Amino acid sequence: MAVQVYIVYYSMYGHVERLAEEIKKGADSVEGVEAKLWQVAEILPEEVLGKMGAPPKSDVPIITPNELSEADGFVFGFPTRFGMMAAQFKAFIDATGGLWKTQQLAGKPAGIFYSTSSQGGGQETTALTAITQLVHHGMLFVPIGYTFGAGMFEMEELKGGSPYGSGTYAGDGSRQPTKLELEQAFHQGKYIAGITKKLKEAA
Ligand SMILES: Cc1cc2nc3c(=O)[nH]c(=O)nc-3n(C[C@H](O)[C@H](O)[C@H](O)COP(=O)(O)O)c2cc1C
Repeated sequence: MAVQVYIVYYSMYGHVERLAEEIKKGADSVEGVEAKLWQVAEILPEEVLGKMGAPPKSDVPIITPNELSEADGFVFGFPTRFGMMAAQFKAFIDATGGLWKTQQLAGKPAGIFYSTSSQGGGQETTALTAITQLVHHGMLFVPIGYTFGAGMFEMEELKGGSPYGSGTYAGDGSRQPTKLELEQAFHQGKYIAGITKKLKEAA
């Protein structure tokens, strides 16, 4: 059976989802790896979503906590809310107590990706504060470090992401992930898929 990499995310306005699509392409580019996209459930009422100008969700299926145990590796993505992950994703993680109790996710690699509206808005704090969730599950946090190469040192154009994982800046919502940010997302998918495959083969 193919090595399963689950890309699990929450996205309100589509920026995180766009990165997720590219991460999937990167993960799928590794031979023997099958990547799947999953969204977590929305927790805000329709009325609130309407006031926030949130578009309808895409057709990507909604994951249930127990489905996480089918994966060999993960990439988790969320938009920043006040410097940390959106509550929708936290609510999903908070529903994984059963998996935590049996440590079913322990030893599985997991990466993180994110979107903020502004520079200094929490690209790194969002990733860093999400690591606690992985730690309690015994998951292995896989940062991308500087493996993306020259793109990590870009100074001429705005670029989201960091050694913690890929990222983008949404600005007022109209800014879309750039070519470089998408390349970094692809790299992250490929990188984590490669590590997931090695770990599975060694088991
Ligand atoms: C309640 C709320 C809090 C937010 N907090 C932050 C923040 O701390 N820093 C920041 O840069 N952006 C913040 N944002 C902007 C979101 O991060 C932005 O909408 C998101 O990155 C877009 O990703 P998406 O298109 O995948 O939903 C916030 C947005 C909302 C609605």
